[in-house]
Amino acid sequence: MINLHQRPRRLRINAFIRQAFQEINLSLNKLVFPIFVEENLSDYQEITTMPGIMRIPEKKLAYEIERIAKAGINIVLLFGISHHTDDTGSDTWNENGLIARIIRTCKHTVPEMVLISDTCFCQYTTHGHCGIIYNNNIDNDQTLINLCKQAVVATAAGADFIAPSASMDGQVQSIRKALDLSGFNQTAIISYSTKFASSFYGPFRQATKINYESNRDTYQINPMNRREAIRESLIDMNEGADALMVKPAGAYLDILRDIREKTELPLAAFQVSGEYSMIKFASKAGAIDENKAILESLGSIKRAGADIIFSYFTLDLAEKKLL
Ligand code: PBG
Ligand code: ZN
Repeated sequence: MINLHQRPRRLRINAFIRQAFQEINLSLNKLVFPIFVEENLSDYQEITTMPGIMRIPEKKLAYEIERIAKAGINIVLLFGISHHTDDTGSDTWNENGLIARIIRTCKHTVPEMVLISDTCFCQYTTHGHCGIIYNNNIDNDQTLINLCKQAVVATAAGADFIAPSASMDGQVQSIRKALDLSGFNQTAIISYSTKFASSFYGPFRQATKINYESNRDTYQINPMNRREAIRESLIDMNEGADALMVKPAGAYLDILRDIREKTELPLAAFQVSGEYSMIKFASKAGAIDENKAILESLGSIKRAGADIIFSYFTLDLAEKKLL
């Protein structure tokens, strides 16, 4: 008989033992479900690059948010798809614009649902950029002024969290100040603090019908840059963010771990549209087991250091009672 001193297999003998020694657990109350709500839409539209995810017509939103709540989901991220675009995205700071209406409908229908308002312009600008164009440049500081207006309107409508995703320098500090001056010092900011210029946003751009001719490399982070990625999150921490985020998640687990070790702030990760689609299409082709792949991908994001995860799989997991 071989005399081995180390036999890790002893802790894998049966399911109860394996469960007892499992190091991390996923739970529904730490997942955020992103939804797409489109105005002037007569019926649901399947997003062909994201099988299983629909554009929700605004008039069906009350029904949908109830269904989401009944499935056991506590937190949603709201994306509007606008039919009122212009070169600044001014619909976003209109008190009767799409963002404000979506938030009011959700709050009114399910008051306890936690609402995170994605705070950006690209679904509301004709050119599809996340800010104002001035002299052929995405003008940082002009965009900050409009981000503040949007954040205040969204909060007044009932948003619980503001999540700036425009990747403008100083966006957290500016929004914090604007919210405080408007009497909203209890509204937290989850910053998309480390947001890469990623090809994995591809399906999102089709989903939201963004005009996307040019690229976002002058404001989003180069995927090859680790130090800069850490620095961006630390800047947002110093500007007063209540929680940080790494986006995308799966291809950036090293960055999640780096940031986890450099700050005490809560850390979110966004499993983006392309990460969703890769798993969906691979499982449709019979290449992988869908449910196992979903749980494995989310588990790896959690293991890397995420406290909460934004994922398009959330509703599926909830309705199938997998979590
Ligand atoms: C808009 C925004 C994007 C995503 C979230 N907010 C797209 C982008 O920045 O190009 C990506 C979400 C996803 O791909 O699931 N600023
Ligand atoms: Zn944007």
